[in-house]
Amino acid sequence: MTAEPLERFLDRPAQLKEPERTLLPRLPDATPLILRTARGDDLPELCRLDKEVFQEVAYPEFLLRQMYDMYADHLLVLDDGTGRLRGYVLAGTTRLDRGSWILGLCVIQDQRRNGLGRELMVEVLDRLRGCGIEQVRLTVEPANRAAILLYRGLGFVPEEPDGGLRRDYFGPGMDRLVLRLDLTPAG
Ligand SMILES: CC(C)(COP(=O)(O)OP(=O)(O)OC[C@H]1O[C@@H](n2cnc3c(N)ncnc32)[C@H](O)[C@@H]1OP(=O)(O)O)[C@@H](O)C(=O)NCCC(=O)NCCS
Repeated sequence: MTAEPLERFLDRPAQLKEPERTLLPRLPDATPLILRTARGDDLPELCRLDKEVFQEVAYPEFLLRQMYDMYADHLLVLDDGTGRLRGYVLAGTTRLDRGSWILGLCVIQDQRRNGLGRELMVEVLDRLRGCGIEQVRLTVEPANRAAILLYRGLGFVPEEPDGGLRRDYFGPGMDRLVLRLDLTPAG
């Protein structure tokens, strides 16, 4: 298993800028990864990554393009320094109810269990909090133990009723759990 240091930089306007943070590598020969906001020229690589991880349930390219157009500030990627992406998280927001949905999260197979998924989530939750978002929801396959443990560890809880279980949520046989996190306002 390899571990990665995480160098954070932001390429967003000054008013949205947040502090950089570098995580030291868990292994001495680890390649640095940069956690940053996605750019337009990441989209082909983002589609490749999404297909690699999610396969038949990957987002169609046109939809990723449009989600980037809508939610670019909340689309964060892990870049290995060459433009090759190793993970991403995407949150969609609505101004109507100060709510948000996590619409995608992944880390490539050989980089898992190194804390990167949690790092992506913590960063996007910080940004959402900073934008005045008060609730974050997401759906997860009921059998996806790794993701559920990650989300529960961050404080997400099932949104009642039925312990969060929504049968046929994405169509026949595609049940999902809906989890929710209430964010405390940024201090
Ligand atoms: C879910 C996913 C993003 C987790 O990424 P990751 O970088 O491996 O996760 P982390 O290393 O940050 O783990 C954070 C916590 O999640 C839980 N976790 C992650 N993977 C786990 C696994 N295989 N088994 C058990 N718990 C796991 C643990 O609680 C872990 O904390 P710990 O390391 O202190 O025990 C990754 O497995 C993935 O990309 N899966 C495929 C895509 C997917 O399912 N996305 C979520 C869709 S809702």
